[in-house]
Amino acid sequence: MCGIIGYTGSVFAASKVVLDGLERLEYRGYDSAGLATIKGSGLLVNRGSGKLRLIRSVLEKGMGSESVAIGHTRWATHGKPTEENAHPHVDNARRIVVVHNGIIENYLDLKGELSAKGHRFDSQTDTEIIAHLLADMENPDFLVSFRQAVLRLEGAYALAVLHVNYPDRIFFARKNCPLIVGHSENEGMFLGSDPAAMLSYTRTVTYLNDLEYGYIDPTSVHLFSLNSGEPLPIQKEVLDWNPVAAEKGGYRHFMLKEIHEQPDVVRNTLGGRLDEARGKVLLPDFQISPEQFSKIDRIVITACGTAYYSGLVGKYVLERLCRIPVDAELASEFRYRDPVINEKTLVIAVSQSGETADTLAAIELARARGATTMAIVNVKGSSLTRRVDGTLYIHAGPEIGVASTKAYLAMVVGFELFALYLSEIRNTLSSDSRREFIHELKLIPGKIEEQLKHKEDVLQVAQKYQNYRNFLYLGRDYNYPTALEGALKLKELSYIHAEGYASGEMKHGPIALLDRDCPVVAILSESSVYEKVLSNIQEARARDCLVIGVLTEGSTHSASVVDDSLITQRTIEVLSPLLNVIPLQLFAYFVSDLKGLDVDQPRNLAKSVTVE
Ligand code: M6R
Repeated sequence: MCGIIGYTGSVFAASKVVLDGLERLEYRGYDSAGLATIKGSGLLVNRGSGKLRLIRSVLEKGMGSESVAIGHTRWATHGKPTEENAHPHVDNARRIVVVHNGIIENYLDLKGELSAKGHRFDSQTDTEIIAHLLADMENPDFLVSFRQAVLRLEGAYALAVLHVNYPDRIFFARKNCPLIVGHSENEGMFLGSDPAAMLSYTRTVTYLNDLEYGYIDPTSVHLFSLNSGEPLPIQKEVLDWNPVAAEKGGYRHFMLKEIHEQPDVVRNTLGGRLDEARGKVLLPDFQISPEQFSKIDRIVITACGTAYYSGLVGKYVLERLCRIPVDAELASEFRYRDPVINEKTLVIAVSQSGETADTLAAIELARARGATTMAIVNVKGSSLTRRVDGTLYIHAGPEIGVASTKAYLAMVVGFELFALYLSEIRNTLSSDSRREFIHELKLIPGKIEEQLKHKEDVLQVAQKYQNYRNFLYLGRDYNYPTALEGALKLKELSYIHAEGYASGEMKHGPIALLDRDCPVVAILSESSVYEKVLSNIQEARARDCLVIGVLTEGSTHSASVVDDSLITQRTIEVLSPLLNVIPLQLFAYFVSDLKGLDVDQPRNLAKSVTVE
């Protein structure tokens, strides 16, 4: 939700670094964008409404070789995505300029107070009050004023601020929104919402914690505690992400590239964690001990969106393999419904970004109630990883497409791995079964590669169905979540109404929707519930529906009962969600692209939802 980038240093033109960074951050929000620098003794601020590629020339206007700049790409919360609401925001004297990610909850009170003192406001945003509040502080040392002002803010914020009196500094503060400092040996210092923004310059970063503030200058970071004002030590981490991973690499869209990366993503997620000969999953760095896990009598998985659907697969897999009760809950519900959890509960939060506000709040609640907490996460060092007892990284690399594909797959692999690991601790699966499972798991990347070779077949199906306005996705058992995920992908990418349903539920209501204008996408791969899903399909066909079947290769009987087929490779049932989701991702991708829509940045969405 909103992306921030800043640079101070004399090696590069700051506006160029910031504009390039904004391009990489645009997946976080793309309603409007802006850029500010210090030129001579004044501020130069350029803003525009719309996607970056359309307003780039507006943002570049007058920018030269200045050595400090901050930029912002916006996902609107307070105020429409107009130019005057775009960040950066300035004070009336145009000496201070602010970009902000988050929501200032007490902004109306502060606005009233500042208006009474004569401050004039130009936007409907909560952010603008921060520039005015900073200007209203009286201490001649701006760092002191900065702390005093920030302490008055309620809500969530990642802030980057320039002041004309400090022409090589970027001031920052963080609470409940991600913010990272990037260090480069001789080339200056960076500030950003996300490492992707600075990966082409540096991989050495400091993840800021909540309630920290300070400033960067061209050579160093100065970090303090907001509560005490005391200096804090700087902890650096070197990321293993490759800058090329955040490029399109010859693909038309990030999403298509990320779909094609999935075989390697699965290899990376499994990398070094499987001992097939002994039937073991190895998690040597895992911070939660087997003894702690053996005390657990229940698991709750919590997440949002696609990550939640991966958690639903996790529920099916963990219960089957580990014989332990598992619930999967939407984090936005879990956090407010006073759930029953205790010291014997393991709460697993799943997230690509590790920054989703509801997921973070859910894990805070779980901690407060004494649960053991664990995260399945992609982004190293993200907020979630610092709030849990143990983290299982999925190593999917940077995911730029707003619609999640490779991270979803890696999360499901994360659950499969964890279930195998726990099954050994709980002694619920024989080592022979684990060996077979591991053998099959290792074959998954090759099978996905094989499926991707046939993507043109999916394109043909997409061409036939692109103009329908409603779809029903049906799946059962392990692949009920696959149906939900397939429907979400179509919805968010092509703005077509798509419902995911457990196929056995169809006759309890949704069947009323069915007619020749509502195609059904049914997951009909080989499984113990194959016959059941088949009956549900016959019920749909009896209502004149066209049926697209996700079928296991070579299954001629299934092919005869559907109108069109999306073919997947054969695997064991518990791993089938990993293969069945691939053609559904491709189908949604192709439909969106055929409609001429913005595949990587669908309307109204943002990659990382850091507000409630
Ligand atoms: O970063 P997270 O995995 O926590 O994000 C959760 C959801 O916001 C995310 O999966 C969202 O549903 C995507 N748009 C799905 O494609």
